[in-house]
Amino acid sequence: MSLVIAMDGPSGSGKSSASKGVARALGLRYLDTGAMYRAMTWWMLEHGVPVEDAAAVAAKAGEPVLESGTDPGAPTISVDGTDVSGPIRTREVTNAVSAVSAVPEVRARLVALQREIIGSGGIVVEGRDIGTAVAPDAPVKVYLTASEEARAARRAKDLAADPGATVTVTRAEQARRDRLDSTRKASPLTRAADAHEIDSTELSLGEVIEAVVRLAKEHN
Ligand code: DC
Repeated sequence: MSLVIAMDGPSGSGKSSASKGVARALGLRYLDTGAMYRAMTWWMLEHGVPVEDAAAVAAKAGEPVLESGTDPGAPTISVDGTDVSGPIRTREVTNAVSAVSAVPEVRARLVALQREIIGSGGIVVEGRDIGTAVAPDAPVKVYLTASEEARAARRAKDLAADPGATVTVTRAEQARRDRLDSTRKASPLTRAADAHEIDSTELSLGEVIEAVVRLAKEHN
């Protein structure tokens, strides 16, 4: 099936688990575009690039070689041949990623890579601008939301190993990141006019997956 499903929404809305589940249920590939922005950010930090300096980030945006594996059962991301699946989830990267992903040169590079991957067949793609900018012609678009409390609680669970990541701190960091991601000039997080909005606050993961699978089947 060469169906493209765009899954956008703010952090902690449950996009990753839902997107992987939908891809598995429908036999599609899966692409986590947030992981690509995180990998670019990890590389900038590793190379001592000041991430708040847009010109410095732009000058280096073409350097890292990124590779994304699209198996929903075992997605992978590597930079210059190094698997960075773990390091891209640290708070250091999380707190720097909005600045890096606001740089137009970074977006141009990663969007081109994303379109190349999307072009080769059926896929569920999660991010912030998939339905609006990366794949505006995607036949199925979902905008996944959840209450701020539910999103912060999910994020804090993801970061359980980090003693600094209490619910309060996580909530503040997340609010900052959502604000930056929705107010930046280049493809800000926004719901596409033709996206189906699903509020996952009161839904189980299975229910969210079912709702998206239903939309995909209605489309076919
Ligand atoms: O989904 P995530 O939290 O792993 O995404 C990390 C960051 O990457 C997010 O704060 C904003 C950026 N991002 C983006 O700008 N565009 C996308 N399509 C996906 C993520």
